[in-house]
Amino acid sequence: MTDIRIAQFRRLARALFVGGALAAASVAQSQTPPPAWDATKYFRYDIENVVVTPTGAPSTWTVKVIFSVANPVMGGTWDIKHALPFQSPGASLTADFGWDPATDFTNAGSANPLLSPIVTTALGSGLAIPVQVRNLQTTGAAACMTSADCPGVADLTNRFWVARTITPVAFTGPVTTGRVALEGKPVCNGVGGVSCPAGPPFAIVPVKSAAVSIALKSTVSLAAIIPDPRRAIVDIAKCQGCHDGKPHGDLLEIPRLSLHGGNRNENLGLCVMCHNANQTDVVYRYLTSGTTADPRIGGAETAIDFKTMIHSIHAGGFRKQALVVIGFNSSVNDFSYVRFPAKLRNCTTCHIDANGKGTFELPLKAGVLGTTVNSQSTYQVPLGATRSINVNPFTHLKISPTAAVCSSCHDESDAKSHMVKTGGASFAVKQADLGTKVKERCAGCHGPGKDKDVRKVHEIRSSGGGGSGSGSKEHDD
Ligand code: HEC
Ligand code: HEC
Ligand code: HEC
Ligand code: HEC
Ligand code: HEC
Repeated sequence: MTDIRIAQFRRLARALFVGGALAAASVAQSQTPPPAWDATKYFRYDIENVVVTPTGAPSTWTVKVIFSVANPVMGGTWDIKHALPFQSPGASLTADFGWDPATDFTNAGSANPLLSPIVTTALGSGLAIPVQVRNLQTTGAAACMTSADCPGVADLTNRFWVARTITPVAFTGPVTTGRVALEGKPVCNGVGGVSCPAGPPFAIVPVKSAAVSIALKSTVSLAAIIPDPRRAIVDIAKCQGCHDGKPHGDLLEIPRLSLHGGNRNENLGLCVMCHNANQTDVVYRYLTSGTTADPRIGGAETAIDFKTMIHSIHAGGFRKQALVVIGFNSSVNDFSYVRFPAKLRNCTTCHIDANGKGTFELPLKAGVLGTTVNSQSTYQVPLGATRSINVNPFTHLKISPTAAVCSSCHDESDAKSHMVKTGGASFAVKQADLGTKVKERCAGCHGPGKDKDVRKVHEIRSSGGGGSGSGSKEHDD
């Protein structure tokens, strides 16, 4: 139990260990006020309409996003171009454009449609992240002046639009769907009704991010928003059973799901756009030998695919190896301190489980991608030297998808060799060879009703008809 308290201090220390220097806690806290969760109720990001125009051969689209920020408490909408919460230092607002949600996001071609490597001396160029337009509150977006600017929106007051051309590259099949998201944070300055700590720096307001799925069609679509085509897997309400910012038993508090500097909040449909099967933390890694920087920054890249990263984060104490993700500004995020305050083997703590079928069971749905563990990038070079980030996912080396899931908790070498020898899995395979050269056989023994059924071996009681309260309708993805 005291382990858990120590873990809380480690988390604090981890958060302060940025850029290789441990800042004094008191200084850091007096300089940066904690997030103003009380103020989030004054803001709601609304993506009101998306217009898709095919603009070139063979697969280029201009995607126009029409949005507003509502004030659910006072009524009406915020003028993001003038209101203090958006115009004070520290505020941000970004639009993300991703694709392929029908199976899994790949965003292939987002860095460049030719898939040639990004050759740069800079850290931070993404591997498979969405196309982004930043600073919507200043130059990134324009006000809706006429209904021709912003079709499908009745009231133009404080409505804004941002348009971006995207050229998606097909990965395992044609790209017919995409997703746009709105993320970022106002600051607690000029918000009526709450007492904000004085600034600057102002307290940030971690507003829930918004995301909608869209159809990419060969004809102009004045109303491109569609229901989420991606399978629902986990239920954010279950995550929030813990991630509510309140103390749980001996844990001081489990933080709300606000990540990346308070910009990306409480919407898993946003997280999975970036935390996809082709994404690793390679962009902030470099060679540290002969320097004072943390040697873990120079290690092998780590997958940040949600179906591996989220398991591994919560499996501290069960995994044999620490999960280390190198984050923004090469911060070292070692999650081995996390102790899951519930039974780790009870998959239904997070997963949707309805009518006798759980989304944690095998076989996986067709189209679930292998998880990149070696992007074949050149990044283990000294800081400032030329790096080559391989954004061509066809040449990435992957873990076959079932083994990627199971080994994110079961990471012992015996278990992994069982997956390869008995299960037909691979830990270094190209996506194109999955289902052909490499065929996973896991479901034959771990599938429903089989001898080593995933549900049975994890001792999960069968879900009845209703009563579990976890129908897919509640899913936030
Ligand atoms: C039974 C409780 C519990 C549930 C359910 C749970 N988590 Fe967690 N999670 C934790 C704890 C405890 C930590 C470690 C928190 C800390 O840093 O002190 C954590 C950490 C995390 C982190 C890392 C946070 C950071 O600051 O780096 C992420 C991301 C996360 N969880 C996502 C999720 C998601 C997504 C779900 C649902 C699919 C989920 N969690 C469900 C208990 C839970
Ligand atoms: C626009 C892309 C993007 C979005 C959206 C995004 N992430 Fe990340 N995330 C990344 C990348 C890339 C990394 C790894 C390296 C880095 O920080 O650039 C990362 C790292 C992380 C890490 C490990 C490092 C750390 O800072 O703790 C956690 C935990 C995490 N993300 C959780 C989330 C959650 C939860 C969400 C949704 C609320 C989310 N991310 C949304 C791109 C994104
Ligand atoms: C802390 C929360 C959490 C727990 C506990 C958890 N999972 Fe998951 N699992 C996730 C998340 C998050 C994803 C990825 C969701 C997404 O991509 O939308 C996932 C994905 C998966 C997938 C892939 C499903 C698909 O369609 O892609 C499988 C299989 C899976 N988990 C199995 C398990 C098993 C087996 C257990 C229990 C032994 C378990 N999970 C426990 C959070 C959890
Ligand atoms: C979220 C973490 C997690 C994931 C993901 C996960 N497991 Fe487990 N698994 C556990 C835990 C915890 C136990 C219980 C181990 C114990 O009690 O010592 C367990 C037990 C088992 C057992 C019983 C044998 C044993 O070691 O006790 C089998 C078999 C098993 N898991 C198979 C799988 C398969 C197959 C998958 C992938 C579909 C999977 N697991 C995914 C956490 C996980
Ligand atoms: C021929 C049947 C068979 C196949 C195929 C098979 N397994 Fe297993 N697996 C088993 C048996 C038997 C055990 C031992 C269960 C026990 O200890 O209760 C096991 C145990 C496991 C465990 C738990 C390991 C541990 O350390 O406790 C995991 C994880 C696992 N299998 C994953 C997989 C994956 C992933 C695949 C496919 C790539 C796979 N298995 C294919 C029969 C099989």
